Order: sequence, then C-alpha cells, then structure tokens
Amino acid sequence: MNIASLRLSINGVDRSRGIEAFTTDVRTILRPLFLGGRLKREVLEQVVANCEAGNMDDHIVVDEQNLYKISVFFWPPGFYNAPHVHKTWAVAGVLHNVVTIKTYDMNHFSRKNEFVLNNTFVATENRIGRVIPPCLHRVGNDTAGASISLHVVGLSELAEERASDTVWYRKEGGRFVEFEPRDIPAPEFYAIKEKQVRYRYLVAEELLRRGS
Ligand SMILES: [Fe+2]
Repeated sequence: MNIASLRLSINGVDRSRGIEAFTTDVRTILRPLFLGGRLKREVLEQVVANCEAGNMDDHIVVDEQNLYKISVFFWPPGFYNAPHVHKTWAVAGVLHNVVTIKTYDMNHFSRKNEFVLNNTFVATENRIGRVIPPCLHRVGNDTAGASISLHVVGLSELAEERASDTVWYRKEGGRFVEFEPRDIPAPEFYAIKEKQVRYRYLVAEELLRRGS
C-alpha cells in the first residue's frame, strides 16, 4: 500500500523543471512515509518475502517506464562500501539506525589519484537526502547495530547503459582505479551476495518481530 502509493506519487511528479526540483519533490513525498514508520514495516516485509523467495536483488521496485528503482541496503556495524560516483540522481533516507555518508574530491593531479575527504554526514533515522551527480562518496555504518537505508535511484534511459550507472573504485597498488562489480568471479560474487541476503533476512525478520 505505502510502496504502491509512493510509486504513484513519484510517477506524478513533473520532471520538466529539472533534477533539483524533481528530487526535492521526491524527498517531500518520502518524508511523511518515513515519519509514520509505515513504509519501514512494509519495506521490511517485502525484503523478508524476497529473501524467502530466493530473490537476491537489492531493489524492491524497478520502474522501467518511469526510469527509477527503489533499493534497500543493509549496513552491518563497521561496514563501508567502496567509493563510487552515480551518473543518475538519487534520493535516499535512513529507515533504521544511523548511516554515515563521506563525500570526496577526486584529485586527478595527484600521482596517487587520491580521494580527499571533503564532508561527513551522519544521517539518523528518517533523515532523507539526495545525490545529484557527480558526487564521489561512500556510505557506511559506524554504529554497533544494523542500519538500513532506502534509495530511490534514477535509471539511464538505455537498458544497456544501466550497468554503468554507478562507477566504483578500489585501491590497487596504492591508487584508486575503476572496477566493475560484475567482473568479480562468479563464485566470489555469489558468496558475497548470499552473505548479504542472509544478513538482510536476519535483520529484517528480527525488526519485524520486535515491531520496530
Ligand atoms: Fe551511493
């Protein structure tokens, strides 16, 4: 119900006024759904259902027609993802606990291709922000408990371009280089995925059981 009405509201936003106005409107749509806690419950139920069905996807919605997806990410204590840049817009909110976002400047002139930290945002539950490209950042969890975030993310118009909507970096020989998660060998990739899904399932189930 809440996910369905969220989709209807997003699909009703006039996109002709540009990305700033559009993402502001998406944030305005999300705010009451976060504050009521109803979206969180429904999202957790959807995550549990997906896990039980063997669905390993991070996303709970892909809207090909309106070019966005809705993903849910679970952040274990101490975990940070790799630095990355999105080529499309995103509006993201904290569904549970606290998520930290670190933004970086890319120093192209440095021999080491250094990433220089320029800001740290500590986003508590129900905080909603947006990412307008380009923005180099990583996301993680500095707390001792699990954190969960929900992301409404724009999709490139051409399906074949979507695998490159996010550019990932990792350190190789002391410098940051681009890498493609899809180039990770399949056994390793699925082992990581399976671990993520198990964690997601345990956390979502427990939160639903506790009613929080
Ligand atoms: Fe990101």
